[in-house]
Amino acid sequence: MATETDRTPVDGLTDTATDVSDVSDAPEADVDSDGRLERFSSVQVYVHGTIALSIFVLYLTGLPMTFNEHLGWLFSVFTYEHVVLVHVAFGVVLIAVGTYYLLYLALTALLAGRLLDSFPTLGDVRESLAYVTYLFGRGEKPAAKKYTWLQKAEIWVLAVELFLLSATGLLLWYRGVFASPEFRAALGANEALADVLLLMVRDVHVVVALTMLMGISFHLYMVNVKERFPFNKTMFSGTVSADRARHHWAEWADEELGETETPHESSEDRPVPSSRFLTVTGLSLLAFFALVLIATLFAAVLSPLPTREYLIALPADPVTHGVASIVFFVGLNAAVVLILAGAAAICYGMIQRLRGEL
Ligand code: HEM
Repeated sequence: MATETDRTPVDGLTDTATDVSDVSDAPEADVDSDGRLERFSSVQVYVHGTIALSIFVLYLTGLPMTFNEHLGWLFSVFTYEHVVLVHVAFGVVLIAVGTYYLLYLALTALLAGRLLDSFPTLGDVRESLAYVTYLFGRGEKPAAKKYTWLQKAEIWVLAVELFLLSATGLLLWYRGVFASPEFRAALGANEALADVLLLMVRDVHVVVALTMLMGISFHLYMVNVKERFPFNKTMFSGTVSADRARHHWAEWADEELGETETPHESSEDRPVPSSRFLTVTGLSLLAFFALVLIATLFAAVLSPLPTREYLIALPADPVTHGVASIVFFVGLNAAVVLILAGAAAICYGMIQRLRGEL
């Protein structure tokens, strides 16, 4: 059983610091007593856990504000005021932890004197092209460094989305600014423009939140279905088996472990999902994306400024009216159940980590 001390010799900065000195000659430093490779430092594990939990709570409290016709029961249970209060509180947690992590990354890169592992490079473009070629059955699967090109894309898209959500969230929180005499005077006493700007901020907040919901679903699918079925513990333990490292991130594993021969098929990759499960999950994911896209269209994009009441181009909104609204009712409530399950899984993983059971 790996203990906290096994995993993190000094503190969170060790992850990258050891990368610099241990490139090929002394791999033991990153391998714990169980022969597992350190992939994430303690800081990264706890930041990821806190941010993931915050995001789940922000969805649980934000979605009923947008789709109150279908998720209004959350207000009946918790009251509108409490839901907004919890939303803003977790928004503040997200911003605080995000700011701390940005500083941590900047310091880590500065001390190590090199770019972050997740920084996009030209090599990622080459890797993505090689990956497409591989998908068409022409060539080998490209060996990845610490993060594959797809993982880096996920990381950066999510980072930009979180930044936009934080900025627009703060503006919504301090919406009094839009009504202030100073702000209105700065706009040339154009009262209507001030209102329109506030509504635009709200629309950006909603569009980004819903777009990110697709990104998060894709991320959860990749991590827990494609990479390690049915529950990937790496983000809680911070470690990965040498076999799995070689299987998914061959170049990184070679750098850390040296070019010793280990099988590329990992016992950790069992159980693998059946092809029926993969098909059903893949199709459900696509159906969910379609549902979210249509809901976003009607909740924000097609609700033109200045307010939703001015939706004159369409006789009715299918998200809330007619037979189609049943599909949205089921889909959105299913999403809430999955978000609750996600929040429970994060808490379970973090508790296991705190108890040293991983
Ligand atoms: C993962 C991140 C986030 C998600 C998914 C999210 C989602 C949402 C959604 C869906 C709404 C409802 C908008 C509407 O239909 O009117 C909302 C409203 C709001 N959000 Fe966020 N949000 C996030 C982050 C934040 C952050 C970081 C803050 C900053 C404190 C914040 C503050 C607010 C505020 C003040 C409102 C308006 C509440 C009201 O109507 O009184 N959000 N959010």
